Order: sequence, then structure tokens, then C-alpha cells
Amino acid sequence: MIRIVLYVILFAFAAGCVENHRPAATAVADEAAYLNKGDSLVKITFDTLRNSLLRAMGEKGAAGALRFCNAEASSISSTYAAAGVAIGRVSDRNRNPRNALSAEDGLQWEQYRQLLAKHDSLKSVVVYHDNAVHYYKPIFIQPMCLACHGAAGEELSNDLIPVIDSLYPGDKAKGYHTGDLRGMWHIVFSAAGE
Ligand code: HEC
Repeated sequence: MIRIVLYVILFAFAAGCVENHRPAATAVADEAAYLNKGDSLVKITFDTLRNSLLRAMGEKGAAGALRFCNAEASSISSTYAAAGVAIGRVSDRNRNPRNALSAEDGLQWEQYRQLLAKHDSLKSVVVYHDNAVHYYKPIFIQPMCLACHGAAGEELSNDLIPVIDSLYPGDKAKGYHTGDLRGMWHIVFSAAGE
């Protein structure tokens, strides 16, 4: 009798495993596909942003580049977005009020902060929320960013501060150092684009 009960339990377990296995495998494949899509969208968008920024800094200086960034950052970011795909950058210390963390972004931000505190590496992730797939990737400060996000009076020249503050009165994005976590790329793949 005990043996039969055991077999029944084992069978139920095995059936449950098989049942559960398929969706899990699909979810893993989906997740990998979204991670790939996200990584390549970020790469192409970042390359375009950085090249445009470097050109603008060469031609117009930091203040001119800053105005350019003010006018163009969000349209450049959406250049490679397709229907149902929205690309943006968010930060806890945002310059543009539109780039503040949403409550949902805040959960991922917290994960990254905890990994940082443990000196773990921060990778891109995919989370599912509200019928959409959300891709996040951490953004770190590089030396070239300091001209506009560095410490006042150091890499960030004193002349530039009033220009930043007039365009972004609530700016929180100064005072960074190379290697600091600056923000996250956030891509939303909504069902409409599927
Ligand atoms: C020429 C000045 C300039 C340089 C150089 C620059 N930024 Fe910015 N950055 C800006 C401006 C202006 C904004 C606000 C753009 C907007 O209005 O959407 C911004 C916004 C951002 C945002 C979006 C969140 C927020 O604060 O609004 C991130 C993230 C960011 N920058 C990271 C970087 C990184 C990383 C680098 C270096 C690779 C960099 N920036 C270089 C001027 C600059």
C-alpha cells in the first residue's frame, strides 16, 4: 500500500515536472531573446548618442553640446525604437524631470544598488510587468561624461553650471565620478509591438 502511494506521489511529481518544464523553457528562451534585443538596441542608441555628443562638443563646446543634448537626447534615443518599443534612460539623480525613476524602475534600481554594495557585477535584466517586457541595463560614468555630470569647479566647468541650471532648474545630475552608477537604460516592449 505504501509503495502504491509512493508511486502515485512520484508519478504526480514527474507529471508536474513535465507540465511545468515547457513553459519555463519558453520563458527562458524569451528572456534571452529580449536581453539580446535590448543589448543591441542600447548599443546602437548609445553609439549614436555618444558620437553626436562628441561631434557637438567639438563643434560647439560643452555649452553648445549641452543645448544639443537638451533638444535631441530623447529623439535620438527613440531613433531605433520600433512600434511598441520605447527606449529611455532613468536615474535617481535625474537631470530631466521626465527621466525620474518610476515606482517599478525603483525596484530594479534597488537591486542594482544592492549588487554594487556587494561588489557584484551589474548585468542587463528583463522583468515582466503590466503586460509588457521591461529591459534594464546599468549606465556608468566614463571620463567623457564628467564635462557635464562631474563635480562643480573640477571637470564640470563653472561656466557651464548656469547653463545647466537654466535649462534644468531641478538638476540632480552633477558631482559624479568615473565608474559611478549614473542610471539605467529602460526599454519597454509592449504587447502592441508583438
Ligand atoms: C554635453 C553634456 C553632456 C555630456 C558630455 C553627457 N551628458 Fe548625460 N545628460 C546631459 C543632458 C543635458 C541630459 C538631459 C537630457 C534630456 O533633457 O533628456 C543628460 C541626461 C543623461 C541621462 C538621463 C537621466 C537624466 O539625468 O536626465 C543619463 C543616464 C546620462 N545623461 C548619462 C550620461 C553618460 C553616461 C555620459 C557619458 C557617456 C553623459 N551622460 C554625457 C548632458 C550631457
